[in-house]
Amino acid sequence: MSEVTTPVQSDTLPPPDDAFWKGIRRDQFYLEPDIAFLQGGSVGPSPKPVVDRVTEAIRAFDSDPLKHQPKYWSIVEESREKLARFVGTRSERIALVQNTTMALSVFAQGVTWKVGGEILMTDQEYGAVNACFDYVAERHGLTVRRVHLPMEITDKQQIIDVFTSGLNEKTAAMVFGHVYWSTGLVTPVKELTEIGRDRGVWVVVDGAHAVSMVPLHLDAWNPHFYASSLHKWTLSPKGTGMLFVSDDAHDRVEPLILGSSAHPNPNASRFDMMGTRDQTPFIGLGTALDFQQEIGWDHIRTYCRGLVDYMRERLGRIRGVRFLTPRDPEMSGFITTFTIEGADLQKIRQELWDDEKIETVAFHINDVPVFRISTHFYNSREEIERMVRAIERRL
Ligand SMILES: Cc1ncc(COP(=O)(O)O)c(C=O)c1O
Repeated sequence: MSEVTTPVQSDTLPPPDDAFWKGIRRDQFYLEPDIAFLQGGSVGPSPKPVVDRVTEAIRAFDSDPLKHQPKYWSIVEESREKLARFVGTRSERIALVQNTTMALSVFAQGVTWKVGGEILMTDQEYGAVNACFDYVAERHGLTVRRVHLPMEITDKQQIIDVFTSGLNEKTAAMVFGHVYWSTGLVTPVKELTEIGRDRGVWVVVDGAHAVSMVPLHLDAWNPHFYASSLHKWTLSPKGTGMLFVSDDAHDRVEPLILGSSAHPNPNASRFDMMGTRDQTPFIGLGTALDFQQEIGWDHIRTYCRGLVDYMRERLGRIRGVRFLTPRDPEMSGFITTFTIEGADLQKIRQELWDDEKIETVAFHINDVPVFRISTHFYNSREEIERMVRAIERRL
């Protein structure tokens, strides 16, 4: 199981024009036409073929459960295969869990901790991730060391230095985001993994936002664990997530849920076994990956990058706007976070939704109020223009 797998990149046609993307938004989503949905970082709208596939699969299953059950297991395995190829690994290393929370729990609850050790994280991890590791630390006599991740990063080396500065002889694990939920910062997983592995610590990546936003090469990077939620950027049914488990981590972690998983099993599916459950979301996962592949993932990325550039240019004209997301495409994706000096962002966010049907999110990072805008291929320049003008009118 040591072979490195190349991710699929199959875009051969010229990039589609704006009319194409508008057509996709209009014809391929159930999302209400007048909503400007700029909040897919929380949970994404699945395209119609995904919703329809799942709905039909539920209906068919219940028309003859025992006939469909074994059939569905094999379709789920096809989805696992497609996902593995997309993230640059083999299906044997992928557990199909429900979400990032569950994926990280497999690690947190499944490894053997030694009293006195440290878990290295930053001060910008996601709330549920903080809660998970605070719990583990309390239970096993560990300390969570939270190093400060600057809000405005301009150089990759800054990120590396942040983690290097927090490592010491007590460090047992390094837990970090691939795409930060807060500023949208994209971290160098390869380099950080090398640093962690060199020091003999667990390397655990929270990639909740990364799959379908940035290219993944999991075999080549080889962190011990990599978790993601596919109901965000992959637009897969809700409750579909993944956990990559490296070969050398497999035998050092216990399954979260015991049942058939109690028997030895060389595959990461051991970590997603949980008795009888609805398989249809994972059937929909395969459809979501097909849908994305049919459009061409390179085309999607080019289009989304264009939206981000356009938005930065438009917002940059507003006095007092300061971006917290790096401009460098190597350190950013399709989450754009900014603050506006002196503005009441919560109030504006509420009005954007109540009066204009523009869905965004505003929160604080280290006491700084920010807007976070997620842009995907179902969004358009018109929607961004609508949002920028709506903000301008309220300043
Ligand atoms: C960075 C990050 N990690 C973890 C999670 C948890 O994801 P889920 O609720 O899908 O488990 C989220 C959710 O938004 C997130 O943004």
